Amino acid sequence: MHALVPAAGIGLRFGGERPKQYIEIAGKPVLAHAIEAVRRDSRVTGVTVVIAADDRWFEASTRARVEPVEVVAGGATRAESVHKGLQAIARRHPQADWVLVHDAVRPCLSAARLAQLLTDGLASADGAILALPVRDTLKRCDAGHRIVATLDRASLWAAQTPQLFPLERLRAALGDLLQAGAPPTDEAAAMESAGGRPLVVMGSPRNIKITWPGDVAVAAAWLAGIDPEEEDL
Ligand code: C5P
Repeated sequence: MHALVPAAGIGLRFGGERPKQYIEIAGKPVLAHAIEAVRRDSRVTGVTVVIAADDRWFEASTRARVEPVEVVAGGATRAESVHKGLQAIARRHPQADWVLVHDAVRPCLSAARLAQLLTDGLASADGAILALPVRDTLKRCDAGHRIVATLDRASLWAAQTPQLFPLERLRAALGDLLQAGAPPTDEAAAMESAGGRPLVVMGSPRNIKITWPGDVAVAAAWLAGIDPEEEDL
C-alpha cells in the first residue's frame, strides 16, 4: 500500500503569504505532520507527495523532515494532482495494489482512525474513506441565500481523508472524469462514478482540514495537547 499526499494547492480560500500546507505548527510544516500521520501504520510502505510545479517551499522547509519521500509535480485541480501522483506510483511501484490518499492539510489524523480505515478498507472491494455523520441540519440555498430545501441529515456524512482504494481502479476512474472535464473533489466520487460503493468508516472531528485562518489555532491545540496514538472519537 502506497500513500499519496496531494500538496499542490495554493489555498485560495485561505490567503496568507505561504500555502497553508507550509504553515508551521508545533515546529513543523502542516504537510510534515500529515506525512508523519500516514506513516504511523506499518501497512503503508511508501509515500509520494504531489507539489506544485513552481513550489518554492518543499525543498527549503519540508523535504529534510519527511525523508524518504517521492515527489511528483501536480496540476491545476486536486483531481489532476492526484491523477499525476497515481501515474507516478503505478510506474515506480508496479507491485502497489492499494493507494491511501491523504490531504496535506489534515495534520491531526490519529493512528487509531488510520488503523480502523485500513482494516475495514482492505476488506471492502471498493475501498473506504474516513467520514463523519453530519450533525447540523443542512439547508440548500439559492444565490440570494434563501433556503429552498432542507436535506435529510440521517443519511449524510461529511467526507474526510485518508481515502483507501485499489490503485488501478482509482487511476482509471479519475482518468475518465478528467477526460470528461468533470474533476471530482474527492477520490471516492471518482470510484462512485465508475459504479463503486466505497465504505464510510467513522472519522474524527479532530481530523480537521485546514481551510480558514482560524483552523490553524485549532489544529495547533490538538497537536499540542493530545497524544496522536490515543483514541479520538
Ligand atoms: O483546495 P483544497 O483545500 O480542497 O485542497 C485539498 C488538498 O488538495 C490539499 O492538500 C491541496 O494541497 C491539494 N491540491 C493539490 N493540487 C491542486 C489543488 C489542491 O494537490 N491543484
